[in-house]
Amino acid sequence: MGESIIRTYDLWKRYEIQGHNDAAIRGVDMDIRRGQIVALFGKSGSGKTTFLNLLAGLDVPSTGRIEIDGQDLAGLGETGRTRLRRDKLGFVFQFFNLLPTLTALENVFLALELTGGADAKPAVEALARVGLQGKEHRYPHELSGGEQQRVAIARALVKGPPIILADEPTGNLDSATGAQILALLVERCRAAGATLIMVSHALNTCDYADRILRMTDGRFVEVSSCRELTQ
Ligand SMILES: Nc1ncnc2c1ncn2[C@@H]1O[C@H](COP(=O)(O)OP(=O)(O)OP(=O)(O)O)[C@@H](O)[C@H]1O
Ligand SMILES: [Mg+2]
Repeated sequence: MGESIIRTYDLWKRYEIQGHNDAAIRGVDMDIRRGQIVALFGKSGSGKTTFLNLLAGLDVPSTGRIEIDGQDLAGLGETGRTRLRRDKLGFVFQFFNLLPTLTALENVFLALELTGGADAKPAVEALARVGLQGKEHRYPHELSGGEQQRVAIARALVKGPPIILADEPTGNLDSATGAQILALLVERCRAAGATLIMVSHALNTCDYADRILRMTDGRFVEVSSCRELTQ
């Protein structure tokens, strides 16, 4: 089944709001293997984004432990977590999150520059792999939503990170474009051997996933098929 790339141990995230304690994540023990394509479902407010933010080290757990590629996040410190995010993680968001004053190529190249790369060729190639050859010099506002998400996929994958986190990557696209982008994202991750964890509301995501997890009451429940999600 491959080696573990993400592990969590009795992970909790509690929020205190107006003196009232509430937990978004309630004791999650998770073992995700390298190269797995994982779909996360769960109703709004169930804790999916919180979970991704914890894995990314953007948020700290109240208690429990997270290991990314064998490294304990808490032991890394803020600098170490920033480096881990840069080197090991790629992100795809619902609203694309491209920098509006940079072209498609510059947006992708920026991810390389942050890791010390100076050669633009990998960025050009990454854009070609998502079908954007000839549109490298367009600005985000000159691209369709689907094309902007293609740029975001190229940006996430250009450094060859072992893990891609995607929070509703098709949530802002019409269903036909969303289906194309989903297929592309999964295909690019499989080609790169990257582990993909994606939050979705679209049931067709199940068709692409090796594992389907549903968050209920702050914990994940393994689901064997999409049909169970509609029950
Ligand atoms: N900074 C915060 N302070 C207090 N409560 C928070 C904070 N962030 C999230 N929450 C609460 O934690 C719970 C989980 O939120 P989260 O954003 O993870 O849900 P989600 O599953 O991603 O929902 P959606 O499908 O709507 O994106 C919610 O009840 C939310 O109100
Ligand atoms: Mg969310």
